[in-house]
Amino acid sequence: MNRPIPPLVGARFGDDWWQRGVIYQVYPRSFADSDGDGVGDLGGIIDHLDHLGPDGLGIDAIWLSPIYPSPGLDLGYDVADHERVDPLLGSEEDFDRLVAEAHRRGIRVVVDLVMNHTSDAHRWFESSRAGRDGPHADWYLWRDPSGSGPDGRPLPPNNWGSIFGGPGWEWEPRRLQFYFHTFMAEQPELDWRTPAVEDAQLRMVRGWLARGVDGFRLDVFNVFLKHPDLPSNPTRAGATAWDRQLHLYDRDQPDFPALIGRFRAVLDEEPGRMSVGELFDGTIETAAGLTTDRHLVFEWSLIEATWTASDIRSVIGVRESAFGAGRWPTAVLSNHDRPRHASRLAASIGAGDPDAISRAAAVLLLTVRGTPFLYYGEELGMSDVDIPSEESVDPPFSRFSPEFHLWDRSRCRTPMPWSPGPGAGFTTGRPWLRLGPDAETRNVDAQLADPTSVLSTYRALIALRAATPALQVGSLHAHPDGGGEVVAYTREIPGQVILVLLNLGRRDATWRLSAVAGESGWRPLVRTAKATAADEAIAIGATLILAPDEGLILEAVRPEA
Ligand code: NOJ
Repeated sequence: MNRPIPPLVGARFGDDWWQRGVIYQVYPRSFADSDGDGVGDLGGIIDHLDHLGPDGLGIDAIWLSPIYPSPGLDLGYDVADHERVDPLLGSEEDFDRLVAEAHRRGIRVVVDLVMNHTSDAHRWFESSRAGRDGPHADWYLWRDPSGSGPDGRPLPPNNWGSIFGGPGWEWEPRRLQFYFHTFMAEQPELDWRTPAVEDAQLRMVRGWLARGVDGFRLDVFNVFLKHPDLPSNPTRAGATAWDRQLHLYDRDQPDFPALIGRFRAVLDEEPGRMSVGELFDGTIETAAGLTTDRHLVFEWSLIEATWTASDIRSVIGVRESAFGAGRWPTAVLSNHDRPRHASRLAASIGAGDPDAISRAAAVLLLTVRGTPFLYYGEELGMSDVDIPSEESVDPPFSRFSPEFHLWDRSRCRTPMPWSPGPGAGFTTGRPWLRLGPDAETRNVDAQLADPTSVLSTYRALIALRAATPALQVGSLHAHPDGGGEVVAYTREIPGQVILVLLNLGRRDATWRLSAVAGESGWRPLVRTAKATAADEAIAIGATLILAPDEGLILEAVRPEA
């Protein structure tokens, strides 16, 4: 297929968009359904690009969770063909139209690559499991048994487990060998040490680039390589079988950065292409160590923080010291695996108005140093939805709970509410997962009409960020006072200083504006507890009162020369 790449029109940033821009995660099944089958699709995303584009939220790129044909046992993260579009979500032409329509609005497109494993329905695996002689025979992690048990049954090659629960090795009677899977048995692990696997993956990457894709999210990327000898992991104390091992040999191998370098070399054949690796079960130091220019790494310190000044302040400090000035972090509060932060943060303190928290959390997300990733619906303050077990659509959870380390992820994947009425503008059919009980009032149309809504706050913050270089690339300095219940930091570039204040206490807090860099006053830019911010500068020495969960962003005003 030789398609011309549709031009990017009016994008706000150039090749440095991966650092300056804001990226929005679309969970395709849940965003918008264009054909009435109850499942979101590519046509639905196209129909709603204006919500995201320059006249809407104003994000710079969308990241699409997997769009490939899949049996759906891990909701698309079990890929049966990495080079095609799942007919459930649309056609090949729909994908090309989506890229063209996104580019027409200056929105870049990032696709999710699941390259650690495939579905067991992938033709590579079907061929690989059939015998030891076929063209894909060594494309997966096959090993002989380590012996046989007292009952004569083959014993697995080592002690590695699956993080979803249960053993990591599955017996294949046709090969008389085990194959390994970090996730479900239906998600066999590829053997990246087989050169043909890397070749095939990079060919696939080139195929998406040729279709105009601007970047990739790499699923569980630090697991691609295992120790070549597959030794057993040392054991330790822990709550689950997974935690009872020290994962020395089944991830984070020393030759992995070189593999990412080869992947990046393909992307870097053209400027401005980014990637972001999803850190699997590792530390922030590992994330920082794997970060390079144009290649970001998700780590989970912000997503795992409680909504307290001490925790947020300490996480900001940890991020700053792990990444240092030379590496660029990501900022994430919600995704398709974790409880939505409108629910999670309020629960973490057992108090607070979730909408006020969502607005203040948006200030944090869009002003800390790092590229912000939004999860669809967070701009409405969507919360987790109670899903009765018979309606849950998360097979790993249903199969492995309570060993499953996550939870029923259906709760954070419910359909996006666009308007009041049946189907909430998401579908004219029966939604694949139930809508949130508040969809009638918590929807895009309703929030657009309300200047104090979570959506209006996101729009104002993203517009401010786009117009404020210090918020995009400035250094971050914690306020020297500490700040008590107020988290306070500045973002600075030469000639511009921005002060961010967040009251995370449960009472009003006072804040005396001091000079941090010789300014004569501070001009409020966005205030989350008020419909609009006052324009006049506030003099040094003035005392502000911040409501609980209020966020305030101010810009330093220089003395007249
Ligand atoms: C990480 C993805 O984010 C998650 O949704 C999925 O279940 C696992 N990878 C396994 O594919």
